[in-house]
Amino acid sequence: MGKLPKGAGEAPSRRRRKGVLSVCAALMIGAATAQAQDAFRAPEAATGRSVRAVDAPTHAMVAAANPLAAAAGRDILRAGGSAVDAAIAVQLVLNLVEPQSSGIGGGAFLLHWDQAKRSLVSLDGRETAPAAATPDRFLRPDGKPMAFMEAVVGGRAVGVPGTVRLMEEAHRRWGRLPWPRLFEPAIRLAEEGFPVSPRLNGLLGKETALKSDPRALAYFYESDGQPKAVGSLLKNPAFASTLRMIADRGADGFYSGEIAQDVIATLVGHPFSPGDMTLEDLKAYEVIERPPVCGTYRAYRICGMGPPSSGGIAVLQILGVLETQDLERMGPGADAAHWMTEAGRLAFADRALYLGDPAFVSVPTRGLLDRNYIKSRAALVRADRSMGRATPGEPPGRRAFLAPAQDGIEFGTSHISVVDRDGNAVAMTTTIEDGFGARLMTKGGFLLNNELTDFNFVPTADGKPVANRVEPGKRPRSSMAPTIAFDAFDRLYAVLGSPGGSQIIGYVAKTLVGILDWKLDPQRAVDLGNFGSRNGPTELEAGTEAEAWKTALEAKGHEVRLMEMTSGIQVILVTPAGLIGGADSRREGVAIGD
Ligand code: GLY
Repeated sequence: MGKLPKGAGEAPSRRRRKGVLSVCAALMIGAATAQAQDAFRAPEAATGRSVRAVDAPTHAMVAAANPLAAAAGRDILRAGGSAVDAAIAVQLVLNLVEPQSSGIGGGAFLLHWDQAKRSLVSLDGRETAPAAATPDRFLRPDGKPMAFMEAVVGGRAVGVPGTVRLMEEAHRRWGRLPWPRLFEPAIRLAEEGFPVSPRLNGLLGKETALKSDPRALAYFYESDGQPKAVGSLLKNPAFASTLRMIADRGADGFYSGEIAQDVIATLVGHPFSPGDMTLEDLKAYEVIERPPVCGTYRAYRICGMGPPSSGGIAVLQILGVLETQDLERMGPGADAAHWMTEAGRLAFADRALYLGDPAFVSVPTRGLLDRNYIKSRAALVRADRSMGRATPGEPPGRRAFLAPAQDGIEFGTSHISVVDRDGNAVAMTTTIEDGFGARLMTKGGFLLNNELTDFNFVPTADGKPVANRVEPGKRPRSSMAPTIAFDAFDRLYAVLGSPGGSQIIGYVAKTLVGILDWKLDPQRAVDLGNFGSRNGPTELEAGTEAEAWKTALEAKGHEVRLMEMTSGIQVILVTPAGLIGGADSRREGVAIGD
């Protein structure tokens, strides 16, 4: 520590990278809406693959999935706002410009580091099953589980949204600017319009279910059914009114009154999959402060989100297994990928059996992170042969449940990293679950989540309950892994996270190893080809350096699958010279600061 990481400022070497926006260009993006629109018209941005990285150290920084959102956060920091103020402004703009991923119709987890108090807090704003929900929610009349999309579309999968209450609670604790001020950038963009990004346009082009919602169809598509073109100006006055209401009334303006009635009417009125959420469910929603889960990795302390997210525990378990090896010496390559994917298998086997909402299931968090337990798991890994499929372990304090099914990949979710001038930090991972959530747009101009499909559809097996089955008032298990790392002197060192469904866990672990073991510049750590295992095949990101590891991994018995692995990692690294950021060009991420 004490020096800039080796490779800082290196140009990314992924073959598909098309260019790097300098810090100056990135800062200009946020200067005005018009300039931001230009950013999306730039030839390299039109590919959706350009890198937007800060390559000079700064002292306050925002990394987010869209340049307009990051610029809103940066402007709030410039106006004297705290890290939380900035994260809220970013979230509200993301709802508008990256509507497929997150927003006020969804939920989020937030980790906050208070530099003055040296205190780390995690807030759970996860969606909650309505009081009327029962374990057979996603079973067909014949008792068989529904197909994923059959469950997603409509009111059935909508959980009580948590994001607005979470933002209010975070602002109450750590906000500096007045609450309504944080809404100004999103209201302005909603009224004046924002340019449709390449990614939004591309995803709309692939969508079919969204078109069955008349409001979404009218908003996102032209009259001939084509998605609104890249760069065309999209205005959302209904969303501006919604934001004004919440800015004026606080979160109560969302959880009661007109907006709440509209949410219920929208999901209850769905023609073939009506929901059963009520106004009482909305009114009863609460944010929960939870102890962050922390562990050491070599000289570092790594902290993440505990249950109902599996993210923090799984990342720490993977790192715990890797700590038995000299990853630095191995460097990025097939040997490291072998160890990381075997560690992933072990973590996902435990996750499947033990993880769920701790209000409903006794999750053996301490046991799963117990050093001796993790050492015993690491001893199962052979250097020369893949274990294929891992079985769950027996951590201290365990209770037996049955393993649920494999997760799919989802395209929703977004991650926001912020560090302010005082050294306070926010890692917030935020979601409406699948891309475009439940494909339900409210009159208020925002999409509703389908988070309840993060529950396991089959509630029991062999007469035993599944930990992550649907129950009334329960929060579905998540993989979101907002992460904050501290150095050997317990100083704030890295703030990161990613979207990507259950692959989030591998994305975050890879980035941490890239930064901590391989001393990569954060942008290079993000750019490094993704790889991991969720206790199924070994997954390598197609079109990256990871492809070259296939043969060596297959020689060790790995069943390798080359695939798109569309992470959206946003990372900020704290160095003595200032902050350096990395943002994921697989989406439209940007890290900007002053
Ligand atoms: N829906 C994404 C997650 O919570 O993991």
